[in-house]
Amino acid sequence: MSAEKQPVGVIGVGWVGLVTAACFAELGHPVTARDILPEKVESLSRGETTIHEPGLDELLARNAERLTFTTDMEELLDAARLLFVCVDTPPTVSGDADLSRVRSVVEELRADGDHALVMKSTVPAGTGNSIRRDMPGLSYVSCPEFLKEGTAVKDFMNPDRVVIGADPGEEGAADAVAALYEPLGGEIVRTDVASAEMIKLASNAFLATKISFINEIANVCEEVDADVGEVARGMGLDERIGPKFLKAGVGWGGSCFGKDTIALKKLAGNSGYHFQLLSAVIDVNELQKRRVVQKLKRYLGSLAGSKVALLGLAFKPDTDDMRDAASLVLAARLEGEGAKVAAYDPIAAERARGLMPTVELATSALEALDGADAAVLVTEWPEFAELDWSEAASQMARPLLIDGRNFLDARSLMAAGFEYEGIGVPTAVRQEA
Ligand SMILES: NC(=O)c1ccc[n+]([C@@H]2O[C@H](COP(=O)([O-])OP(=O)(O)OC[C@H]3O[C@@H](n4cnc5c(N)ncnc54)[C@H](O)[C@@H]3O)[C@@H](O)[C@H]2O)c1
Repeated sequence: MSAEKQPVGVIGVGWVGLVTAACFAELGHPVTARDILPEKVESLSRGETTIHEPGLDELLARNAERLTFTTDMEELLDAARLLFVCVDTPPTVSGDADLSRVRSVVEELRADGDHALVMKSTVPAGTGNSIRRDMPGLSYVSCPEFLKEGTAVKDFMNPDRVVIGADPGEEGAADAVAALYEPLGGEIVRTDVASAEMIKLASNAFLATKISFINEIANVCEEVDADVGEVARGMGLDERIGPKFLKAGVGWGGSCFGKDTIALKKLAGNSGYHFQLLSAVIDVNELQKRRVVQKLKRYLGSLAGSKVALLGLAFKPDTDDMRDAASLVLAARLEGEGAKVAAYDPIAAERARGLMPTVELATSALEALDGADAAVLVTEWPEFAELDWSEAASQMARPLLIDGRNFLDARSLMAAGFEYEGIGVPTAVRQEA
């Protein structure tokens, strides 16, 4: 049965590529996925998943016979006509997106008119047109990815929309991509390549703006004794605003927002336009992480010689991704102030180890909190809501908690003996202990 379905090729088997491969296999397509890392290909071929993503293991196991992992580009080109490019596009030293991996993929393709390159990697507007100029025989479709880590499988299978950008003459390839997504039911937005590229960058920049906006509102709330949770609730009920991405905290992280907002700012700057709003959005996010250190100093004075526990390291729950995680900046800043940092994360500790070598990585929250002068909740893992906070208070040198995600119930924490402070919550709650 699967042989009747269009074969799919995936290039780059990281978060986006592996989810894309697994989901197309789940839809019945034979999928050949290529990565340059032999160890990654070997473990995936053995059925061992390389990332933590809910539902992914099951999907890979259930569709194992439809999935082939390889390092060999020729095998991929022989197997599939539609090639979904999912390689990483990290920032260069200049902040622009580094397209070297995309370019090296293009160099390996055959300009035989048989293949269509479907760009899922996030690239600056103009990339598609420049690839098409360099390789006229290649069909090119922009199909940016909007999945969120932690709910990536669900997002892929239930898209709000699928954006498909193709220029005149490429309608056949765009139709083939649209047919792949059609069973998923999201609205299909057909547009030109440059607009599709901009939709992705603008969407991430807008979401980042929403978070920085509510964080600035939170900071003002702290000055006027208002509660940002109440403010966000009241704002979010306005359907023009909506409730999502209005959660105050220590700022965004992850592999995308940081690099994509800077890449968009640089893209604008390269053509002489100063994207002022985005500059502020980025600055606010940087300062928001540092404000936590200021909060701690208000209680403890100098942090030199103190022990601070970080609860959660991953940039958000349900992922072990540490890219651009707020915990990295916090740990470095705290150590810079002379504090000793202990940390606990249910699944990201392994990835964190090389990134924060001087941080003591505990195997439980209570172990990290033992003897600590303060704790900062950085990632809202559900298990932190279930923690025995009375026991935690009795183990800490000073039961003081800065809730960087406004995740815990302030009154329960205070009843357990904690000095509690969230982000943008009224002084009464902060000092009521
Ligand atoms: N992670 C997300 O949540 C997310 C969401 C939407 C869009 N994106 C975008 O998707 C792209 C991929 O992101 P990711 O998080 O999956 O990256 P990743 O770093 O997890 O994975 C990229 C993979 O590509 C492989 N690779 C590099 N060069 C290659 C080549 N020439 N041939 C084959 N494989 C190669 C790498 O070895 C790696 O396994 C980025 O442009 C990112 O901005 C990511």
